[in-house]
Amino acid sequence: MTTPTAPTDSPSRTEIAGLEVADLARRFGTPTFVYDAATILQRLADLSAFDHVRYAQKAASNLALLDLVRRHGALVDAVSAAEIRRALAAGYTAEGTPPPVVYTADIFDAEALDLCVEKNVHVNCGSSDMIDQLGRRAPGRRITLRINPGFGHGHSQKTNTGGKQAKHGIWHDQIADCLARAARFQLEVSGLHVHIGSGTDLDHLSRVCGALENAAVEVGPSVTSVSVGGGLPTVYRQGEQYVDLAAYYELCDAMRKRLQAGFGHPVSLEIEPGRYLVAESGYLIAEIRAIKQQDDNTFYLLDAGFNNLARPILYGAYHPMSVVPSDGDLSRPEQEVIVGGPLCESGDIFTQEEGGFVVSRRLPVARVGELLVIECAGAYSFVMGSNYNSKPLGAEVLILQGRAHLIRRRQTFEDLVRGESIPEL
Ligand code: LLP
Repeated sequence: MTTPTAPTDSPSRTEIAGLEVADLARRFGTPTFVYDAATILQRLADLSAFDHVRYAQKAASNLALLDLVRRHGALVDAVSAAEIRRALAAGYTAEGTPPPVVYTADIFDAEALDLCVEKNVHVNCGSSDMIDQLGRRAPGRRITLRINPGFGHGHSQKTNTGGKQAKHGIWHDQIADCLARAARFQLEVSGLHVHIGSGTDLDHLSRVCGALENAAVEVGPSVTSVSVGGGLPTVYRQGEQYVDLAAYYELCDAMRKRLQAGFGHPVSLEIEPGRYLVAESGYLIAEIRAIKQQDDNTFYLLDAGFNNLARPILYGAYHPMSVVPSDGDLSRPEQEVIVGGPLCESGDIFTQEEGGFVVSRRLPVARVGELLVIECAGAYSFVMGSNYNSKPLGAEVLILQGRAHLIRRRQTFEDLVRGESIPEL
């Protein structure tokens, strides 16, 4: 297993995956998300030591991306009825061993429960109510339990999914009660799952193994699978670190082997990454539409805003950026700039830290009409977009073997108002 090395900062670029950014912008318009399939497949291959890699599609759920990872052996996680439908539309079958699609959530809405029951989609229960609700409708099934181990960690407090402040998972001391509920409906608890947060580190991830082991020992030999969840970080800026994948795998595998020895049967080991697989593959291409001087601050204002990429306004997240010089000059002088979007809200700034503090970034001198690329924008980017200010969602493009494919067309005004109506008076 290989751990990737950190990318270097490149404030100018002319290509994405070998294709000219200017050509991509001409062909697909801006703002447009571009994903490089080769990067996704490399990240998937990094994790090949695990028995199963289950893609957390909440990170980027375009059908073409689901189809890509499916064809390369990844299973898929779904957290809503529509994510189950996406998985099926992308060619996953609902049933199989291991389950191709797993519904992991803390609640069922009516549609998700109907789908899981009718299509026999495997359910990973994050609350005891889910056990009762599924049991009443589909007794005799196998289920897994998502455990909240009492601790968690993420790149932001908003992405920490463990501990008593978190709504996620079944609290670790309530396993006996859950087993009793499951038994009432002849549900068999065949596996355990722990996900402590998104964008965490090896120290915290390694504690997941101990938590899973304790829970599995309590449930007993009905357990045939354990999932260590997602959470693997991506390097967004220099100085951040990837997790040592070989070291992490060793910890997980040792835990699995102890369980196997205790139970006397094989236990499969699953990992459930979202960000790790897709973050670095994604680029948001935008156009600089205005350059403003506000006292001593220079602003580059783009045609993309937090309606396209909400991570900076939500978490103060840092994304690398590069200017695409229209004259091909990669050695332009640099200046400190603040990069913002078009929305009527002062928080619409890509260069901000958690708490909303605006900061500047060193970027090449640019002109209105030139392109700017926001990088590492494959995960939790397009999918968290909105129609705020009645802005249409941008296009999505996949670069596959040197060719760019439109995988989602830009929304139109008609898309925006579809379903709306004016009451007749
Ligand atoms: N499994 C479960 C049960 C999860 O809740 C999540 C993420 C994952 C797997 C995948 O985690 P990953 O490998 O991507 O860290 N919007 C935030 C991230 C929210 C993550 C939610 N759950 C962001 O932009 O950073």
